[in-house]
Amino acid sequence: MDQEEMTAVGVEAFGQPLRRLRLPITAPRYGEVLVRVAAAAVNPADLGMVAGRYRWSQPVRFPLVPGYDVAGTVVGTGQPVLAFTLHKATQRGGYAQFVTLPEELVVPLPDGLTAPEAVPLLLAGMTAWQALDAVGEVGTLLVNGPRGAIGGLAAQLAAARGITVVPPDDPGPVDAALDVVGGTVARAAFDRVRDDGRYVTVVPEFWVPGGPFTAERGITPRVVSVRHDRAQLVGLVERLAAGTLTAPVGKVLPLTEAAEAHRLVGRAAGAPRVAGKVVLVP
Ligand SMILES: NC(=O)c1ccc[n+]([C@@H]2O[C@H](COP(=O)([O-])OP(=O)(O)OC[C@H]3O[C@@H](n4cnc5c(N)ncnc54)[C@H](OP(=O)(O)O)[C@@H]3O)[C@@H](O)[C@H]2O)c1
Repeated sequence: MDQEEMTAVGVEAFGQPLRRLRLPITAPRYGEVLVRVAAAAVNPADLGMVAGRYRWSQPVRFPLVPGYDVAGTVVGTGQPVLAFTLHKATQRGGYAQFVTLPEELVVPLPDGLTAPEAVPLLLAGMTAWQALDAVGEVGTLLVNGPRGAIGGLAAQLAAARGITVVPPDDPGPVDAALDVVGGTVARAAFDRVRDDGRYVTVVPEFWVPGGPFTAERGITPRVVSVRHDRAQLVGLVERLAAGTLTAPVGKVLPLTEAAEAHRLVGRAAGAPRVAGKVVLVP
């Protein structure tokens, strides 16, 4: 490959505006692949990460290039893939022309699924799956934020598991609630759970304060923090390709308009939102 540098978008310090960067392409080592990015999803976490609101497990190296989710092709083989980036460790995420990743994080993309169609599935899908695993076997489940990425996928996956999904404005108690919003909205979901029921949130206290995190009425809140799971990702891709799961794309923007993408995703509560995932194309 003759290209040694790439265009990426990131920040040089927390709180700075996103800007276009020229960065070296990291050559893949044994067990790694270089992915040419065709689409990167914008997740709410990206906004908090560049703002400095995220809890990093290791010291952060700048420039910080956000982006958990990419779809693209493996350089050398041309294999279309979907991949979870390692940016929590490397700070080299999907807002870039290339990412270098362990093969383990990369799953093949079936024919018929384009990169922008597939990329909204990744972080949100695995989080929804793992949140439902934490909920376990229940009859009724309230999902707040059912129009959002995780909420929408969780509602579809729950229905496929035989769980009756209850919208937030339906009255009456439920066996379980899955919170994807946090704060007072989370409290309202918790209050709808019957005694000894189950409550799971994907929004930790440091991210959106105010949600219920201590046991009450025999309900012990569980906070799910997503981890990469290859088998789950393969299962999600199969469902998307088969048409039994949908992960809508709301807007596709060029990578260089990542700041506008963050503005759209970070709109104030109640302001008009893009229905579906915002996707960046390098
Ligand atoms: N724990 C983990 O590992 C993990 C992983 C990924 C993401 N997350 C977090 O999970 C949360 C959801 O992520 P996402 O990708 O699903 O976000 P999203 O697509 O933006 O969806 C958020 C949903 O929350 C709803 N919402 C927001 N504010 C609300 C309010 N004040 N009242 C009622 N509903 C409200 C939105 O409703 P409208 O559609 O009506 O606007 C939307 O349906 C984020 O905080 C994200 O950082 C956690």
